[in-house]
Amino acid sequence: WPRTADWAGGELRLGGLGVRELAAEFATPVYVLDEDDFRARCAAWMGAFPDGDVHYGGKAFLAPAVVGWLRELGLSLDVCSGGELAVARRGGMPAERVVFHGNNKSVAEIRDAVRWGIGCIVLDSFQELERVADIARAFGVRQAVMIRVKPGVDADTHASWATGGENTKFGLSMASGEAAEAVRRVLAEPALDLVGLHSHIGSQIFDLDSFATAAHRMVGFLREVEKENGVTIGKLDLGGGLGVPYLPGEKTAPTPAELAEVLGAVVPPDMRIALEPGRSVVGPTTVAVYEVGTVKGRFISVDGGMSDNPRPATYGAAYTAVVASRASDAAPETFTIVGKHCETGDILVDGVDLPGDVRPGDLLAIPCSGAYQRSAASNYNLLPRPPVVAVRDGAARTIVRRETEEDLLRLYV
Ligand code: LLP
Repeated sequence: WPRTADWAGGELRLGGLGVRELAAEFATPVYVLDEDDFRARCAAWMGAFPDGDVHYGGKAFLAPAVVGWLRELGLSLDVCSGGELAVARRGGMPAERVVFHGNNKSVAEIRDAVRWGIGCIVLDSFQELERVADIARAFGVRQAVMIRVKPGVDADTHASWATGGENTKFGLSMASGEAAEAVRRVLAEPALDLVGLHSHIGSQIFDLDSFATAAHRMVGFLREVEKENGVTIGKLDLGGGLGVPYLPGEKTAPTPAELAEVLGAVVPPDMRIALEPGRSVVGPTTVAVYEVGTVKGRFISVDGGMSDNPRPATYGAAYTAVVASRASDAAPETFTIVGKHCETGDILVDGVDLPGDVRPGDLLAIPCSGAYQRSAASNYNLLPRPPVVAVRDGAARTIVRRETEEDLLRLYV
Protein backbone atom coordinates (compact mmCIF):
# COMPACT_ATOMS: atom_id res chain seq x y z
CA TRP A 1 0.00 0.00 0.00
CA PRO A 2 1.21 3.54 -0.69
CA ARG A 3 2.64 5.39 2.25
CA THR A 4 -0.35 7.60 3.07
CA ALA A 5 -2.79 4.64 3.12
CA ASP A 6 -4.74 4.26 6.35
CA TRP A 7 -7.77 2.27 7.41
CA ALA A 8 -9.49 4.44 9.98
CA GLY A 9 -13.03 3.10 10.52
CA GLY A 10 -12.46 0.24 8.07
CA GLU A 11 -12.43 2.49 5.02
CA LEU A 12 -9.27 2.88 2.95
CA ARG A 13 -8.00 6.45 2.86
CA LEU A 14 -5.30 7.65 0.47
CA GLY A 15 -3.69 11.07 0.65
CA GLY A 16 -6.19 11.92 3.38
CA LEU A 17 -9.25 11.07 1.25
CA GLY A 18 -11.63 8.15 1.71
CA VAL A 19 -12.21 5.83 -1.23
CA ARG A 20 -15.99 6.33 -0.97
CA GLU A 21 -15.59 10.06 -1.44
CA LEU A 22 -13.11 9.49 -4.30
CA ALA A 23 -15.45 7.03 -6.01
CA ALA A 24 -18.37 9.43 -5.61
CA GLU A 25 -16.40 12.25 -7.19
CA PHE A 26 -14.47 10.43 -9.90
CA ALA A 27 -16.57 7.26 -10.41
CA THR A 28 -15.06 3.82 -10.86
CA PRO A 29 -12.91 2.18 -12.01
CA VAL A 30 -10.30 4.72 -11.02
CA TYR A 31 -6.57 4.66 -10.47
CA VAL A 32 -5.68 6.61 -7.32
CA LEU A 33 -2.04 7.70 -7.23
CA ASP A 34 -0.46 8.74 -3.93
CA GLU A 35 1.66 11.72 -4.95
CA ASP A 36 3.67 11.78 -1.71
CA ASP A 37 4.57 8.16 -2.22
CA PHE A 38 5.65 8.87 -5.81
CA ARG A 39 7.81 11.77 -4.68
CA ALA A 40 9.35 9.74 -1.86
CA ARG A 41 10.24 6.92 -4.22
CA CYS A 42 11.88 9.38 -6.63
CA ALA A 43 13.79 10.87 -3.70
CA ALA A 44 15.00 7.42 -2.63
CA TRP A 45 16.42 6.82 -6.11
CA MET A 46 18.04 10.25 -6.26
CA GLY A 47 19.48 9.73 -2.77
CA ALA A 48 20.91 6.33 -3.70
CA PHE A 49 22.60 7.67 -6.85
CA PRO A 50 23.46 11.29 -6.01
CA ASP A 51 26.29 11.37 -8.57
CA GLY A 52 24.45 9.48 -11.28
CA ASP A 53 21.49 9.96 -13.53
CA VAL A 54 18.09 8.55 -12.68
CA HIS A 55 15.91 8.32 -15.77
CA TYR A 56 12.34 7.37 -14.92
CA GLY A 57 11.08 4.66 -17.31
CA GLY A 58 8.08 6.44 -18.76
CA LYS A 59 6.61 3.25 -20.22
CA ALA A 60 5.46 2.21 -16.73
CA PHE A 61 3.12 5.21 -16.54
CA LEU A 62 3.42 8.68 -17.98
CA ALA A 63 1.37 11.87 -17.83
CA PRO A 64 2.38 15.52 -18.09
CA ALA A 65 1.81 15.90 -14.32
CA VAL A 66 4.25 13.05 -13.66
CA VAL A 67 6.80 14.69 -15.94
CA GLY A 68 6.44 17.85 -13.86
CA TRP A 69 7.21 15.97 -10.62
CA LEU A 70 10.24 14.30 -12.19
CA ARG A 71 11.53 17.60 -13.48
CA GLU A 72 11.12 19.21 -10.10
CA LEU A 73 12.81 16.33 -8.26
CA GLY A 74 15.83 16.22 -10.58
CA LEU A 75 15.11 13.00 -12.42
CA SER A 76 15.46 12.54 -16.15
CA LEU A 77 13.11 10.60 -18.38
CA ASP A 78 13.38 7.57 -20.62
CA VAL A 79 10.88 7.48 -23.49
CA CYS A 80 10.37 4.76 -26.08
CA SER A 81 8.02 6.27 -28.64
CA GLY A 82 7.00 9.51 -30.29
CA GLY A 83 3.91 9.54 -28.06
CA GLU A 84 5.94 9.35 -24.86
CA LEU A 85 8.21 12.02 -26.28
CA ALA A 86 5.18 14.25 -26.86
CA VAL A 87 4.10 13.81 -23.24
CA ALA A 88 7.65 14.58 -22.04
CA ARG A 89 7.49 17.80 -24.01
CA ARG A 90 3.99 18.66 -22.83
CA GLY A 91 5.11 18.11 -19.23
CA GLY A 92 7.98 20.54 -19.69
CA MET A 93 10.91 18.17 -19.37
CA PRO A 94 14.04 19.85 -20.73
CA ALA A 95 15.07 18.07 -23.94
CA GLU A 96 18.58 17.39 -22.65
CA ARG A 97 17.13 15.29 -19.81
CA VAL A 98 15.32 12.86 -22.13
CA VAL A 99 16.72 9.56 -23.42
CA PHE A 100 15.10 7.82 -26.37
CA HIS A 101 14.91 4.01 -26.44
CA GLY A 102 13.46 1.40 -28.73
CA ASN A 103 14.48 -1.27 -31.22
CA ASN A 104 12.67 0.26 -34.17
CA LYS A 105 12.29 4.01 -33.80
CA SER A 106 10.76 5.43 -36.95
CA VAL A 107 12.54 7.99 -39.09
CA ALA A 108 9.80 10.47 -38.16
CA GLU A 109 10.35 9.82 -34.44
CA ILE A 110 14.12 10.19 -34.75
CA ARG A 111 13.75 13.39 -36.74
CA ASP A 112 11.37 14.84 -34.21
CA ALA A 113 13.66 13.90 -31.32
CA VAL A 114 16.81 15.29 -32.96
CA ARG A 115 15.04 18.49 -33.97
CA TRP A 116 13.83 18.92 -30.39
CA GLY A 117 17.42 18.56 -29.14
CA ILE A 118 16.90 15.32 -27.23
CA GLY A 119 19.60 14.53 -24.70
CA CYS A 120 20.44 11.08 -25.94
CA ILE A 121 19.34 8.39 -28.38
CA VAL A 122 20.09 4.78 -27.51
CA LEU A 123 21.16 3.00 -30.69
CA ASP A 124 19.80 -0.50 -31.06
CA SER A 125 21.07 -1.61 -34.49
CA PHE A 126 23.54 -0.72 -37.24
CA GLN A 127 20.70 0.52 -39.43
CA GLU A 128 19.55 2.84 -36.73
CA LEU A 129 23.10 4.08 -36.26
CA GLU A 130 23.12 5.14 -39.92
CA ARG A 131 19.65 6.66 -39.69
CA VAL A 132 20.43 8.75 -36.65
CA ALA A 133 23.73 9.88 -38.17
CA ASP A 134 22.03 10.91 -41.43
CA ILE A 135 19.32 12.83 -39.59
CA ALA A 136 21.80 14.56 -37.28
CA ARG A 137 23.89 15.56 -40.29
CA ALA A 138 20.81 16.93 -42.04
CA PHE A 139 20.06 19.11 -39.01
CA GLY A 140 23.74 20.09 -38.69
CA VAL A 141 24.00 18.76 -35.13
CA ARG A 142 26.16 16.24 -33.32
CA GLN A 143 23.74 13.87 -31.61
CA ALA A 144 24.65 12.30 -28.26
CA VAL A 145 24.07 8.55 -28.36
CA MET A 146 24.53 5.42 -26.30
CA ILE A 147 24.77 1.90 -27.68
CA ARG A 148 22.50 -0.77 -26.29
CA VAL A 149 24.57 -3.83 -25.50
CA LYS A 150 23.40 -7.38 -24.78
CA PRO A 151 25.35 -8.32 -21.71
CA GLY A 152 24.41 -12.01 -21.98
CA VAL A 153 22.64 -12.14 -18.63
CA ASP A 154 19.46 -14.20 -18.35
CA ALA A 155 17.66 -12.61 -15.44
CA ASP A 156 15.31 -14.67 -13.32
CA THR A 157 11.95 -13.22 -14.36
CA HIS A 158 9.01 -13.79 -16.74
CA ALA A 159 10.33 -14.66 -20.22
CA SER A 160 8.54 -11.63 -21.70
CA TRP A 161 10.50 -9.27 -19.47
CA ALA A 162 13.99 -10.79 -19.72
CA THR A 163 15.95 -8.62 -22.12
CA GLY A 164 19.62 -9.18 -21.34
CA GLY A 165 20.23 -12.57 -22.94
CA GLU A 166 21.73 -13.25 -26.38
CA ASN A 167 18.35 -14.36 -27.60
CA THR A 168 16.53 -11.04 -27.39
CA LYS A 169 15.61 -8.51 -30.04
CA PHE A 170 17.18 -5.69 -28.06
CA GLY A 171 20.67 -4.37 -28.50
CA LEU A 172 23.91 -5.55 -30.03
CA SER A 173 25.77 -8.60 -28.85
CA MET A 174 28.83 -8.20 -26.71
CA ALA A 175 29.78 -11.86 -27.19
CA SER A 176 29.71 -11.82 -31.02
CA GLY A 177 31.69 -8.60 -31.37
CA GLU A 178 28.71 -6.66 -32.79
CA ALA A 179 28.70 -4.20 -29.92
CA ALA A 180 32.44 -3.47 -30.28
CA GLU A 181 31.90 -2.91 -34.01
CA ALA A 182 29.09 -0.46 -33.22
CA VAL A 183 31.42 1.46 -30.91
CA ARG A 184 34.01 1.74 -33.71
CA ARG A 185 31.39 2.93 -36.20
CA VAL A 186 29.93 5.53 -33.86
CA LEU A 187 33.38 6.86 -33.00
CA ALA A 188 34.15 7.14 -36.72
CA GLU A 189 30.95 9.11 -37.33
CA PRO A 190 31.36 12.87 -36.78
CA ALA A 191 27.61 13.43 -36.48
CA LEU A 192 27.41 11.14 -33.44
CA ASP A 193 28.82 11.64 -29.95
CA LEU A 194 29.18 8.42 -27.95
CA VAL A 195 28.34 9.34 -24.36
CA GLY A 196 27.82 5.90 -22.85
CA LEU A 197 26.90 2.26 -23.12
CA HIS A 198 23.53 0.87 -22.12
CA SER A 199 22.16 -2.45 -20.96
CA HIS A 200 18.80 -3.48 -19.53
CA ILE A 201 18.52 -7.03 -18.27
CA GLY A 202 14.77 -7.08 -17.73
CA SER A 203 11.93 -6.15 -15.45
CA GLN A 204 10.52 -7.32 -12.08
CA ILE A 205 13.93 -8.56 -10.91
CA PHE A 206 14.59 -9.20 -7.22
CA ASP A 207 18.03 -10.75 -7.50
CA LEU A 208 20.73 -8.09 -7.16
CA ASP A 209 23.35 -10.59 -8.37
CA SER A 210 21.92 -10.32 -11.91
CA PHE A 211 22.47 -6.55 -11.83
CA ALA A 212 25.99 -7.10 -10.47
CA THR A 213 26.83 -9.63 -13.19
CA ALA A 214 25.54 -7.33 -15.92
CA ALA A 215 27.41 -4.36 -14.44
CA HIS A 216 30.60 -6.41 -14.19
CA ARG A 217 30.39 -7.43 -17.85
CA MET A 218 29.53 -3.91 -18.97
CA VAL A 219 32.43 -2.40 -17.01
CA GLY A 220 34.83 -4.93 -18.56
CA PHE A 221 33.46 -4.26 -22.04
CA LEU A 222 33.55 -0.50 -21.62
CA ARG A 223 37.21 -0.60 -20.48
CA GLU A 224 38.06 -2.87 -23.41
CA VAL A 225 36.54 -0.63 -26.07
CA GLU A 226 37.97 2.48 -24.40
CA LYS A 227 41.42 0.94 -24.62
CA GLU A 228 40.99 -0.39 -28.14
CA ASN A 229 39.83 2.99 -29.44
CA GLY A 230 41.90 5.26 -27.21
CA VAL A 231 38.87 7.15 -25.89
CA THR A 232 37.04 7.70 -22.61
CA ILE A 233 33.35 6.85 -22.65
CA GLY A 234 32.81 6.96 -18.92
CA LYS A 235 29.08 6.33 -18.56
CA LEU A 236 27.16 3.13 -18.00
CA ASP A 237 23.39 3.11 -18.17
CA LEU A 238 22.31 -0.12 -16.50
CA GLY A 239 18.60 0.18 -17.28
CA GLY A 240 15.64 -0.43 -15.01
CA GLY A 241 14.10 -3.57 -13.68
CA LEU A 242 14.05 -3.50 -9.88
CA GLY A 243 11.07 -5.59 -8.79
CA VAL A 244 8.22 -4.78 -6.44
CA PRO A 245 6.07 -7.18 -4.40
CA TYR A 246 2.44 -7.45 -5.51
CA LEU A 247 1.19 -9.83 -2.83
CA PRO A 248 1.19 -9.79 0.95
CA GLY A 249 3.99 -11.95 2.30
CA GLU A 250 5.86 -11.95 -1.01
CA LYS A 251 9.63 -11.53 -0.83
CA THR A 252 10.59 -7.93 -0.16
CA ALA A 253 12.16 -5.95 -2.95
CA PRO A 254 15.71 -4.62 -2.80
CA THR A 255 15.84 -0.87 -2.23
CA PRO A 256 17.59 1.61 -4.54
CA ALA A 257 20.19 2.03 -1.78
CA GLU A 258 20.88 -1.71 -1.77
CA LEU A 259 21.22 -1.67 -5.55
CA ALA A 260 23.59 1.29 -5.27
CA GLU A 261 25.74 -0.60 -2.81
CA VAL A 262 25.97 -3.66 -5.06
CA LEU A 263 26.76 -1.55 -8.14
CA GLY A 264 29.24 0.55 -6.17
CA ALA A 265 31.28 -2.60 -5.56
CA VAL A 266 31.49 -3.33 -9.29
CA VAL A 267 31.50 0.01 -11.08
CA PRO A 268 34.63 2.14 -10.59
CA PRO A 269 33.99 5.59 -9.10
CA ASP A 270 35.14 7.39 -12.25
CA MET A 271 32.35 5.75 -14.24
CA ARG A 272 29.06 7.59 -14.15
CA ILE A 273 26.05 5.33 -13.54
CA ALA A 274 22.61 5.90 -15.01
CA LEU A 275 19.50 3.89 -14.18
CA GLU A 276 15.97 3.71 -15.54
CA PRO A 277 13.54 2.58 -12.86
CA GLY A 278 9.89 2.49 -13.88
CA ARG A 279 7.87 -0.05 -11.92
CA SER A 280 9.73 0.47 -8.63
CA VAL A 281 8.93 4.19 -8.77
CA VAL A 282 5.28 4.13 -9.77
CA GLY A 283 3.93 0.61 -9.22
CA PRO A 284 3.31 0.76 -5.46
CA THR A 285 2.07 4.38 -5.53
CA THR A 286 -1.26 3.56 -7.14
CA VAL A 287 -4.37 1.69 -6.05
CA ALA A 288 -7.01 0.57 -8.54
CA VAL A 289 -10.52 1.04 -7.18
CA TYR A 290 -13.44 -0.87 -8.69
CA GLU A 291 -17.09 -1.20 -7.72
CA VAL A 292 -18.62 -4.62 -7.24
CA GLY A 293 -21.51 -5.14 -9.66
CA THR A 294 -22.52 -8.75 -9.06
CA VAL A 295 -21.58 -11.60 -6.76
CA LYS A 296 -22.35 -15.03 -8.20
CA GLY A 297 -20.97 -17.97 -6.29
CA ARG A 298 -17.23 -17.40 -6.03
CA PHE A 299 -17.19 -14.81 -8.85
CA ILE A 300 -17.17 -11.14 -7.99
CA SER A 301 -17.64 -9.00 -11.11
CA VAL A 302 -16.27 -5.48 -11.11
CA ASP A 303 -16.74 -2.56 -13.48
CA GLY A 304 -13.37 -2.86 -15.27
CA GLY A 305 -11.18 -5.81 -16.14
CA MET A 306 -8.57 -6.94 -18.64
CA SER A 307 -8.86 -3.71 -20.62
CA ASP A 308 -7.63 -1.55 -17.75
CA ASN A 309 -5.30 -4.21 -16.33
CA PRO A 310 -4.05 -6.62 -18.98
CA ARG A 311 -1.28 -8.04 -16.75
CA PRO A 312 -3.07 -11.06 -15.25
CA ALA A 313 -4.38 -12.22 -18.64
CA THR A 314 -1.12 -11.47 -20.44
CA TYR A 315 1.48 -12.70 -17.97
CA GLY A 316 -0.48 -14.58 -15.33
CA ALA A 317 0.42 -11.72 -12.97
CA ALA A 318 -0.94 -12.18 -9.44
CA TYR A 319 -2.67 -9.46 -7.44
CA THR A 320 -4.51 -9.15 -4.18
CA ALA A 321 -7.62 -7.12 -3.33
CA VAL A 322 -9.52 -5.90 -0.30
CA VAL A 323 -12.96 -4.51 0.39
CA ALA A 324 -12.01 -0.87 0.81
CA SER A 325 -15.31 0.87 1.51
CA ARG A 326 -16.31 -0.65 4.86
CA ALA A 327 -15.26 -2.94 7.67
CA SER A 328 -16.87 -6.37 7.92
CA ASP A 329 -16.87 -9.11 10.52
CA ALA A 330 -18.19 -11.72 8.09
CA ALA A 331 -16.09 -14.86 7.84
CA PRO A 332 -13.72 -14.78 4.86
CA GLU A 333 -14.37 -16.78 1.74
CA THR A 334 -12.21 -17.27 -1.30
CA PHE A 335 -13.36 -15.33 -4.36
CA THR A 336 -12.20 -14.78 -7.94
CA ILE A 337 -12.42 -11.19 -9.05
CA VAL A 338 -13.39 -10.92 -12.69
CA GLY A 339 -13.98 -8.04 -15.06
CA LYS A 340 -16.86 -7.31 -17.41
CA HIS A 341 -15.22 -8.47 -20.63
CA CYS A 342 -16.45 -11.20 -22.92
CA GLU A 343 -13.95 -13.90 -22.08
CA THR A 344 -13.22 -16.33 -19.30
CA GLY A 345 -9.61 -15.18 -19.03
CA ASP A 346 -10.81 -11.77 -17.89
CA ILE A 347 -9.64 -12.32 -14.33
CA LEU A 348 -8.13 -9.59 -12.16
CA VAL A 349 -7.46 -11.61 -9.02
CA ASP A 350 -7.50 -15.37 -9.16
CA GLY A 351 -8.33 -16.39 -5.61
CA VAL A 352 -8.42 -13.93 -2.73
CA ASP A 353 -10.01 -14.14 0.72
CA LEU A 354 -12.65 -11.46 1.24
CA PRO A 355 -15.46 -11.09 3.77
CA GLY A 356 -18.26 -13.48 2.86
CA ASP A 357 -20.82 -10.66 2.88
CA VAL A 358 -19.20 -8.79 -0.04
CA ARG A 359 -22.02 -7.32 -2.11
CA PRO A 360 -22.87 -5.03 -5.03
CA GLY A 361 -21.85 -1.45 -4.33
CA ASP A 362 -18.79 -2.41 -2.27
CA LEU A 363 -15.54 -0.87 -3.45
CA LEU A 364 -12.61 -3.18 -4.05
CA ALA A 365 -9.06 -1.87 -3.97
CA ILE A 366 -6.16 -3.57 -5.76
CA PRO A 367 -2.78 -2.28 -4.59
CA CYS A 368 0.39 -1.94 -6.66
CA SER A 369 -1.53 -0.89 -9.74
CA GLY A 370 0.66 1.98 -10.92
CA ALA A 371 2.97 0.30 -13.42
CA TYR A 372 2.06 -1.11 -16.84
CA GLN A 373 -1.68 -0.96 -16.15
CA ARG A 374 -3.08 2.42 -17.20
CA SER A 375 -0.14 2.71 -19.61
CA ALA A 376 -1.00 -0.67 -21.15
CA ALA A 377 -4.77 -0.29 -20.96
CA SER A 378 -6.84 -0.89 -24.09
CA ASN A 379 -10.34 -0.15 -25.30
CA TYR A 380 -11.22 -3.83 -25.67
CA ASN A 381 -14.98 -4.25 -25.91
CA LEU A 382 -14.98 -0.47 -26.32
CA LEU A 383 -14.63 0.27 -22.65
CA PRO A 384 -13.44 3.80 -22.01
CA ARG A 385 -10.12 3.76 -20.12
CA PRO A 386 -10.22 4.85 -16.45
CA PRO A 387 -8.80 8.10 -15.14
CA VAL A 388 -5.77 8.54 -12.91
CA VAL A 389 -6.38 10.77 -9.91
CA ALA A 390 -3.46 12.05 -7.84
CA VAL A 391 -4.16 12.54 -4.14
CA ARG A 392 -2.09 14.59 -1.71
CA ASP A 393 -2.81 16.37 1.60
CA GLY A 394 -6.55 15.86 1.40
CA ALA A 395 -6.86 17.11 -2.19
CA ALA A 396 -7.46 15.12 -5.35
CA ARG A 397 -6.83 16.12 -8.94
CA THR A 398 -7.33 14.29 -12.17
CA ILE A 399 -4.04 13.86 -14.03
CA VAL A 400 -5.47 11.64 -16.76
CA ARG A 401 -9.18 12.11 -17.32
CA ARG A 402 -11.65 9.30 -17.89
CA GLU A 403 -12.21 8.44 -21.52
CA THR A 404 -15.75 8.98 -22.76
CA GLU A 405 -17.81 7.30 -25.43
CA GLU A 406 -17.34 10.50 -27.36
CA ASP A 407 -13.57 9.93 -27.27
CA LEU A 408 -14.10 6.45 -28.67
CA LEU A 409 -16.53 7.55 -31.38
CA ARG A 410 -14.20 10.27 -32.57
CA LEU A 411 -11.94 7.68 -34.22
CA TYR A 412 -14.54 6.28 -36.57
CA VAL A 413 -14.87 7.54 -40.14
N1 LLP B 1 14.58 0.65 -19.48
C1 LLP B 1 14.25 -0.10 -20.55
C2 LLP B 1 15.10 -0.07 -21.74
C3 LLP B 1 13.10 -0.92 -20.50
O1 LLP B 1 12.80 -1.68 -21.54
C4 LLP B 1 12.30 -0.92 -19.34
C5 LLP B 1 11.08 -1.74 -19.26
C6 LLP B 1 12.67 -0.08 -18.26
C7 LLP B 1 13.82 0.68 -18.37
C8 LLP B 1 11.87 0.01 -16.98
O2 LLP B 1 11.85 -1.21 -16.31
P1 LLP B 1 11.16 -1.33 -14.87
O3 LLP B 1 12.02 -0.58 -13.88
O4 LLP B 1 9.81 -0.76 -14.98
O5 LLP B 1 11.14 -2.80 -14.60
N2 LLP B 1 4.72 -4.77 -19.35
C9 LLP B 1 5.50 -5.56 -18.40
C10 LLP B 1 6.84 -4.93 -18.11
C11 LLP B 1 7.64 -4.60 -19.36
C12 LLP B 1 8.93 -3.87 -19.09
C13 LLP B 1 9.38 -3.13 -20.32
N3 LLP B 1 10.64 -2.45 -20.23
C14 LLP B 1 4.69 -5.74 -17.12
O6 LLP B 1 3.51 -5.44 -17.12
O7 LLP B 1 5.18 -6.23 -16.12
